[in-house]
Amino acid sequence: MSDKKLRSTEWFGTTDKMGFVHRSWMRNRGIPDHEFDGRPVIGICNTWSELTPCNAHFRDFAEVIKRGVYEAGGFPVEFPVMSLGETIVKPTAMLFRNLASMDTEESIRANPIDGVVLMTGCDKTTPSLVMGAASVGLPTIVMPGGPMLNGKYKGEEIGSGTHTWKFDEDYRTGRMSKEEFFFAESCMSRSQGHCMTMGTASTMACMVEALGLTLPGVAAIPAADSRKKVLAHMTGMRIVEMVKENMTLDKILTRKAFENAIIVNAAVGGSTNLIIHMLAIAGRMGVKLELDDFDKIGSRIPLLLNLMPSGKYLMEDFYYAGGLPYIIKELSHLLHKDIISVNGKSIVENSKDAECYNSDVITSFEKPMIKEAGIAILKGNLCENGAVIKPSAATPELMKHRGKAVVFETIEDYHERVDDPNLDIDENSVMVLKNVGPKGYPGMPEVGNMGLPTKLLKKGVKDMVRISDGRMSGTAYGTVVLHVSPEAAIGGTLALVKNGDMIELDVGTRKLHLEVSDEELEKRRKEWKPLELKESNRGYAGLYIQHVQQAHEGCDMDFLVGKSGSVVTRDSH
Ligand code: FES
Repeated sequence: MSDKKLRSTEWFGTTDKMGFVHRSWMRNRGIPDHEFDGRPVIGICNTWSELTPCNAHFRDFAEVIKRGVYEAGGFPVEFPVMSLGETIVKPTAMLFRNLASMDTEESIRANPIDGVVLMTGCDKTTPSLVMGAASVGLPTIVMPGGPMLNGKYKGEEIGSGTHTWKFDEDYRTGRMSKEEFFFAESCMSRSQGHCMTMGTASTMACMVEALGLTLPGVAAIPAADSRKKVLAHMTGMRIVEMVKENMTLDKILTRKAFENAIIVNAAVGGSTNLIIHMLAIAGRMGVKLELDDFDKIGSRIPLLLNLMPSGKYLMEDFYYAGGLPYIIKELSHLLHKDIISVNGKSIVENSKDAECYNSDVITSFEKPMIKEAGIAILKGNLCENGAVIKPSAATPELMKHRGKAVVFETIEDYHERVDDPNLDIDENSVMVLKNVGPKGYPGMPEVGNMGLPTKLLKKGVKDMVRISDGRMSGTAYGTVVLHVSPEAAIGGTLALVKNGDMIELDVGTRKLHLEVSDEELEKRRKEWKPLELKESNRGYAGLYIQHVQQAHEGCDMDFLVGKSGSVVTRDSH
């Protein structure tokens, strides 16, 4: 038990006029005296929104968390922050990740909160809340909302996102009727929760569990499973204890915790988006973490999880097979054990009794799905500061490839020309998409896995090398090089690629090379002019374009890196 004075007593613990003001207005909800007796005030940071379908069940969940807080002797106060629905928000939810993090940070700091529960689910709702909370640093616990139940379509298991790309190709090539296409929509999303593939939401849920920010075993439990609510209740109970123990975020989010999460992410076949979000969270915490760390620490890790898009099962199966604790147990010889998670024990200690109930879903370390499956970081003249590829989602034969560039200057240019019958492209070409980076789009959308030309799909071509400064949905697959840094919009070499240039990709040697002489590149660089941005330069988008960092730095805004702590020095009342 810490003897540290609670923050909330500065609001509720005084007998002066301001104590009266702070308590009196709170009492309009019918709060009795004893709630103000100095017990920990727990903020429940809710990303509920009907426009964020993946988090639309969170009102219910917040009530369950509150039950746990009350049971442990705390005073729960629920508050909303900006919620980002990945499938709904335009132009891309990633543009607003940093805005949501600012909302979270300032909402926590400005209020009488001693500890906070972050209710996360859809892709960006996890990193934005963790980033915001990290810049304050109070005792913090994450409650991921859980995946949807498995999709079911005509007797087949179908996965969020992963089957969207497949159905789109089937529909475009006439293998699927319009009626079947519409019917599949509700077959895919048939319960509350987030994408049930190893997309970004599931990756983020595994990430926070591997970082030690959740109670053990929570990540894979489907949203609709009552055991999710049990853990929500326990999460509410635990945060009260964490406040009493003064278990602040810096005690959990250490460099070693990030290293553990990189290893676990590789073993579950997690999304490439993890890199950007983890770099941003580390930046808030002041933990030194670099793009190359993901290759050094994670790239040789085997894939232990047979889940779409890298494999065939879904999150529901993952939970029934043993969930993340079993993966952690299999990796225990590689993981740091001398660090703690929110319950005071290491994730390894928490997982020591985990069992596997289906070895087709979760393999052993000795007999993995793929021997080396972690995300690889590429270097070369086409990406001086790095680029990213997910080998487990790529075609093995294309991992070493040389082909002629077919260039799309913008995503609109791609849409206009990709199905032009006269487009000079074949299966050996390398599709290059520019100006979809952090500043160029702006917001770095998930368009890097651009669909193949219909004429090649009809020929039976399933995959091609694709390169861009954008991102890719974690539910997607293909031999897709992403996050090229520096991006085209600020004059990175990507901006200089022309149709017909030869490009060499060699994932084995981590090489991405544009076969154009330095002299020619210099000449092109002098002639290069930035594209006029579609977004206006005012408002939040203007601020974002001015301050967003490049992908290899995590795409945080430069002025948000680091933390300001939880102390508020002035009070205008
Ligand atoms: Fe919300 Fe996939 S769209 S998690």
